[in-house]
Amino acid sequence: MSQLFSPYSIGSLELSNRIAIAPMCQYSAVDGLPTDWHTIHLGNLALSGAALLIIEASAVTPEGRITPDDLGLWSDAHFQALRPVIAAIRRHSPIKVAVQLAHAGRKASSQVPWEGGANIAPDQPRGWQTVAPSALPHADGETVPLALDHEGLQRIKDGFVDAARTPWAWTRSSCTPPMATCCTSSCRHWPTGAKTTTAVRSRTACVIRSKSSTPCAPPCRAR
Ligand SMILES: Cc1cc2nc3c(=O)[nH]c(=O)nc-3n(C[C@H](O)[C@H](O)[C@H](O)COP(=O)(O)O)c2cc1C
Repeated sequence: MSQLFSPYSIGSLELSNRIAIAPMCQYSAVDGLPTDWHTIHLGNLALSGAALLIIEASAVTPEGRITPDDLGLWSDAHFQALRPVIAAIRRHSPIKVAVQLAHAGRKASSQVPWEGGANIAPDQPRGWQTVAPSALPHADGETVPLALDHEGLQRIKDGFVDAARTPWAWTRSSCTPPMATCCTSSCRHWPTGAKTTTAVRSRTACVIRSKSSTPCAPPCRAR
C-alpha cells in the first residue's frame, strides 16, 4: 500500500490516511456567519476520501478578518451557525474536521480577491481600523494599524482561547466525533521590530488536539 494511504497520527488525532485538505478562505460568510455555500463546499470536500478537512481561516475577533466576508468564530452565534454544517458532514463522512483560528492583524480589512484584494481604509464602506502588535503598515500607503497594548493583545489571545475551547464543548456535550482545532496567527508575517510580549508569543503556537470520540447514537454516527 502506498504510504499516502497509510494511517498517521498527530498527537492523539488519528488519521486514516495522509491526505489533509488545507484551509481555504471562501469569502462567503455574512458577518462572519457561514452560509449555504459552506455546507455545499465543505460537504463536497468531506466526501473526498481525505482524512482531515481544515475549515478556512476563521477570525477570533471581528477586526481580525482578512476581508468583510471571512468566516468568524468570535461569538456563540458563530459556533451555533457552524454546528449544522459540521453535523451534516458527520452524517455522511468519517472525515476529521479541524478549523483554522486566525487573526489577520495589519493584513485585515481587505477586499475579497476577485475585487482586487486591496486594503480598505477605515473610512471606506466595509473597511475598519486594523490592529497589530506595532503601528507598521503592511505596505506603503495602506492603513497604519493601531498598535495594541497589553490589554488589547490579551483580548485577542482570549479570542483564540475561547474559540479553541468551544469545539471541545461540542465533543463533550454531544456525540460528535473528535474535532481538531488548529490555532494559527499572522505571526509568520510579524513585522521586523514588532513588539513582542508574552501575549504575542503565545499566539505563535500551533495546536492540534483531538479528543476521543464518545459512543454515538444514530443519526450522528459517522459512516
Ligand atoms: C482559495 C484558497 C484559499 C486559501 N485560504 C487559506 C486559509 O484560509 N488559510 C491558510 O492558511 N491558507 C490558505 N490558503 C493556502 C492553502 O492553505 C495552501 O497553503 C496553499 O494552497 C499551498 O498549498 P500547497 O503547498 O499544498 O500547494 C488558501 C489557498 C487557496 C487556493
